[in-house]
Amino acid sequence: MAKVAVVYHSGYGHTAEQAKAVIRGVESVSGTNANLIPVDQIEQHWVTLEAADAIIFGSPTYMGSASAPFKTFMDASSKVWFGQGWKNKIAAGFTNSASQNGDKLNTLVQLAIFAAQHGMIWVGLDLMPGNNNSKGSVNDLNRLGGFLGALAQSNSDEGPDAGPIASDLKTAEHLGARVAQITNQFLAGRK
Ligand SMILES: Cc1cc2nc3c(=O)[nH]c(=O)nc-3n(C[C@H](O)[C@H](O)[C@H](O)COP(=O)(O)O)c2cc1C
Repeated sequence: MAKVAVVYHSGYGHTAEQAKAVIRGVESVSGTNANLIPVDQIEQHWVTLEAADAIIFGSPTYMGSASAPFKTFMDASSKVWFGQGWKNKIAAGFTNSASQNGDKLNTLVQLAIFAAQHGMIWVGLDLMPGNNNSKGSVNDLNRLGGFLGALAQSNSDEGPDAGPIASDLKTAEHLGARVAQITNQFLAGRK
């Protein structure tokens, strides 16, 4: 059974909604065990990450990069890095911010480099960009048009009940399901 963990930070609850959507996607794939881990509970979950076959990283974009609590987790993982304890685990990432662009790509690049430093295998988003032609709408999957991971946008004056909107949550779900499927294929291939 593929074990997939989602480690995330969310200061105000919006990225938490995205993380829950990723987990729904993971759980939609049969034969998968899913674990949702807020970074503030990481101390009791290093063992969960050690046992995981895949880890999906999620952070809001704050000041154009991962939030400070998520970066604290990244730096703390250097203990694992020394022994390359996550080598050949599958990895993926997601981020959410207030602006449509908001420099979210920089956060995903940061997460992908982090995974590469750990010797992990990065899985991107296999969705064609949405909302980029005259027939498109904000309801399209991948409406923010990225390939490195799942992107979401939440208005700065609204709570997590209003944003990220449904299409962003469906996009996050899609990423979770993709990672679960690929992890199952990867494990089957290793037998
Ligand atoms: C310290 C701070 C820095 C932020 N920097 C950015 C930014 O660089 N780009 C952006 O689009 N939004 C930025 N925002 C807005 C957040 O990304 C947005 O409110 C997001 O939904 C917060 O997610 P959370 O509720 O999971 O914390 C920032 C918010 C905070 C608190």
